[in-house]
Parts: sequence; C-alpha cells; structure tokens
Amino acid sequence: MPDNAKNLYESLKSARPDLSNVQYGVIALGDRTYAETFCNGGKRFDAILSELGARRIGEIMLHDASAGTMPEEIAVQWAGEWIFAVRKEAKLAA
Ligand SMILES: Cc1cc2nc3c(=O)[nH]c(=O)nc-3n(C[C@H](O)[C@H](O)[C@H](O)COP(=O)(O)O)c2cc1C
Repeated sequence: MPDNAKNLYESLKSARPDLSNVQYGVIALGDRTYAETFCNGGKRFDAILSELGARRIGEIMLHDASAGTMPEEIAVQWAGEWIFAVRKEAKLAA
C-alpha cells in the first residue's frame, strides 16, 4: 500500500463503515516487474470496499508502468467508459 493511502486503508479496515450505498471505480498504478504484488494497492482497496458493501462499477484499471504507456492517457479513455457505465446504472435505477 502506498504511504499516502495507508491511513485511509487502515481506517476502513478498523472502522468498517457500512458502504452499501457507495459505488466506486479503481485506477490502480503498478509495475509488472513486481510480479507477485502487481497493482496490489488498488486490488486491496477493491477488496476492502467490496467487503464493506460498496459496489464497483466497471473493471479495475490496472496500469503497468513498464508497458511504456502514460497512465494519464490510458485513464482518460478508461474514465470515459466508466462514466458511461455510471450513467447507465443511474438510468436503470431511476
Ligand atoms: C511507477 C511505479 C510502479 C510501482 N508498481 C508497483 C507494483 O505494482 N507493485 C508493488 O508491489 N510495488 C510497486 N512499486 C513500488 C512501491 O511503490 C514500493 O516502493 C515497493 O512496493 C516497496 O518494496 P521494495 O522496496 O521491495 O521495492 C512501484 C513503484 C513505482 C515508482
């Protein structure tokens, strides 16, 4: 878990708030040379958020720093699709 996400992650683990009214998406930044723990911070956030009742919209975006692509560029396309999916869900719920 990156240093700047540790407090949030640990407080979710200990306070265990009910997140059943929360929907979320995950953009995970990683590097495949860390084979065992590739994008593990994002994957662990996904796990704790769903454990607490939140529902993920769309797939997790896994960015590989060794792929030669810029996360900012990949994420723009991912976010466009993600917002489309959020809107679709909102219409279904209305
Ligand atoms: C661009 C970038 C991508 C990284 N991706 C990962 C990753 O996918 N998985 C991982 O465990 N650490 C990743 N790291 C390293 C972590 O930030 C952290 O330094 C590391 O996990 C600590 O273990 P180490 O000292 O063995 O490298 C990445 C670091 C950078 C700069």
